[in-house]
Amino acid sequence: MPRGFPLPGAGQFVQLLLQAPSPVLLPRPMSVAQVRRAARGPVLGFLFAPVGDGTRALAALAEGDRVLVLGPLGGGFPLEVAGVPVLIAGGRGVAPLLFAAETLERQGRRCEFLFGARDAAHLVGLAEARRGLDRMGGRLHLATDDGSRGVRGTVRELLDRIAPHLPAQLVIHACGPHAMLAAIARWALRHRVPAFLAMESVMACGTGVCRGCPLPRSEPERRRLARQRDRLPSLYGSPQFAMCCTDGPVFAAATLDWERLG
Ligand SMILES: Cc1cc2nc3c(=O)[nH]c(=O)nc-3n(C[C@H](O)[C@H](O)[C@H](O)COP(=O)(O)OP(=O)(O)OC[C@H]3O[C@@H](n4cnc5c(N)ncnc54)[C@H](O)[C@@H]3O)c2cc1C
Ligand code: FES
Repeated sequence: MPRGFPLPGAGQFVQLLLQAPSPVLLPRPMSVAQVRRAARGPVLGFLFAPVGDGTRALAALAEGDRVLVLGPLGGGFPLEVAGVPVLIAGGRGVAPLLFAAETLERQGRRCEFLFGARDAAHLVGLAEARRGLDRMGGRLHLATDDGSRGVRGTVRELLDRIAPHLPAQLVIHACGPHAMLAAIARWALRHRVPAFLAMESVMACGTGVCRGCPLPRSEPERRRLARQRDRLPSLYGSPQFAMCCTDGPVFAAATLDWERLG
């Protein structure tokens, strides 16, 4: 990145636009997994799965190839919130949480890191997670739906097992598929544990302009925002819908309608 590029925080993302000729027209949103300072400017690391034309083309870039980068975008995890940090990743959702673990380590806070997927093959970035957490002293707990790695079951079930053995108060930061995040959000609301969930949406602009990434707000949040409708910044959503790119991508559990998302 150029020297003046602002340093992203964990949970923030960038838009990566492949240069022509490219198989895709729109930029692809990607969480920042790592930031390293270097003399020529910050170096950003990403961890992604090649699931379609855009990510396959990104994976095929060679050293020295150029990509247009817009960012840092959105708001990151509020890592200043006190409590024992429990980081919960589903599949490729591990990327921003490895960055969060590193930031927490710099604050002198060790995390419990729960990582789940449907099977061992979908634990994207497991080797990186293991290496990083070994170095940082965080504890890695694994779960797979089919039991091919770690305990058999979901990360929500893993959280049920682990939480009683941790000192209160917990604070959860999570990223993964929406159904998993809905289960974690409901668990956190039931147990009155603060939880912050990094959401995804198919995005075009990434900056609040196209209105293409809406997420339904919870009823209490709608009521709260309706009272201050005139003061909502125009590039953020409406009282009914949050824009994932500008209101998020990280949301507090109580602010979204999980019945419509999970
Ligand atoms: C804020 C944000 C951060 C992200 N961070 C990461 C990351 O760190 N690592 C990573 O691997 N991926 C991440 N993603 C998802 C990534 O942007 C998509 O996988 C990518 O845009 C797919 O592009 P494609 O051209 O390869 O696939 P496409 O051909 O566009 O799509 C392939 C398949 O993936 C589905 N898909 C596309 N975009 C999304 C999405 N946003 N969410 C769920 N399904 C999608 C499509 O419906 C389709 O089934 C992030 C998305 C957002 C919004
Ligand atoms: S991607 Fe355009 S408003 Fe969010």
